[in-house]
Amino acid sequence: MFDFSKNLKKLPPYLFAAIDDKKSLLRKKGVKFLDLSVGDPDIPAPENVVKVLSKSAKIKSNQKYASNKGKSQLRKSIKKWMKKRFKVNLDEESQILPVLGTKEALAHLPVGLINTGDYIITPSPGYPGYRAAGVLSGARVYQLPLLEKNNFLPDLEKIPESVKKRAKIIYLNYPNNPTTVSAPRSFMKKVVKFCLKNKILLVWDNAYSEIYYDKKPLSILQIKDAKKVALEFHSLSKTFCMTGFRIGWVCGNPDAVNILAKVKSNVDSGIFGAVQDAAITALDKNAAYVTNLRKIFNQRRKYLLEALKKAGFKKFYANSTFYVWAKLPAPFKSSLEFSRYLIEEEKIVATPGVGFGKYGEGFIRFALTVDKSKLKNIFKKKISDLDI
Ligand SMILES: Cc1ncc(COP(=O)(O)O)c(C=O)c1O
Repeated sequence: MFDFSKNLKKLPPYLFAAIDDKKSLLRKKGVKFLDLSVGDPDIPAPENVVKVLSKSAKIKSNQKYASNKGKSQLRKSIKKWMKKRFKVNLDEESQILPVLGTKEALAHLPVGLINTGDYIITPSPGYPGYRAAGVLSGARVYQLPLLEKNNFLPDLEKIPESVKKRAKIIYLNYPNNPTTVSAPRSFMKKVVKFCLKNKILLVWDNAYSEIYYDKKPLSILQIKDAKKVALEFHSLSKTFCMTGFRIGWVCGNPDAVNILAKVKSNVDSGIFGAVQDAAITALDKNAAYVTNLRKIFNQRRKYLLEALKKAGFKKFYANSTFYVWAKLPAPFKSSLEFSRYLIEEEKIVATPGVGFGKYGEGFIRFALTVDKSKLKNIFKKKISDLDI
């Protein structure tokens, strides 16, 4: 009786929903497998965060509708955290807005900005939520290639004039999921200039800002004039392993903050107060937790890279984030075909690169979301020995 809207029809099943279906099928068949697909680490959230959550749930005022602006104490903690981590000064009234996880905010932003015929620009490969956000808001989507030969940074010069003229938002994400690279300051300066010139809102998704191994990633708001044109997204999901809590924030350009706040005040009723209290504890009291988290991911990364080398993978990227972006080993050409091979022959679930957009083809993404002991000898067969 009911059918999807034209916009919804344009979207394939959400990448990870499709992978979840595959995993359910394996479970039903009783097949044991190693799940390296979704970016949801096995590590528990900080203990003090969980304690506060449970205590705060009992407070009556937290059981009522929350303010859409978020608690003032939370906005203050975010302000303090941004200042300490990036030396960025923000006004907690006009330049910070807590959100129900960044996925929600990424999707609601274009609802407040897009008119018929407008474009959003999204990276390919890139987090699938950007494209979905554009399509659901009725925008035209221009896919910006992130190519290996350009170190997975986009070439902004190649965006056609017609797209630049009608583009309202460009989504960029560094440290990057899935390619793992970080953006150098020189590129960030270039993007800010480009967005100012073309009057395009720069969404800088910094969800992985704390998962690095060498150089500390920057905030776009450290770049001169960025506050005139950029909105930065942060998530407690990855930094504090709080994926289920659903909390993050946007900060930066006050007009963009205000637009998102207006959309959200019409579609949700704030974040559960106890989750906000938990987030305050995460931000104020868990610097050591994050340092340890990086250590854990770094060890896992070493184990997995070792295993990949042994299995015959020749090229991979693991610069930041908790992913490894590996070039398909010969003789494989299709990432879907390779992920099928991994499931069937190795009982490993990984994410095919093409799931992140057509320019992700030729790669596979492994998430470092299981203990290092499970990563040591994950491949039974050497790929180069295969007779395919
Ligand atoms: C690049 C990127 N942005 C945003 C998100 C969404 O995170 P959240 O849990 O805050 O909605 C993810 C989750 O995987 C991600 O990889």
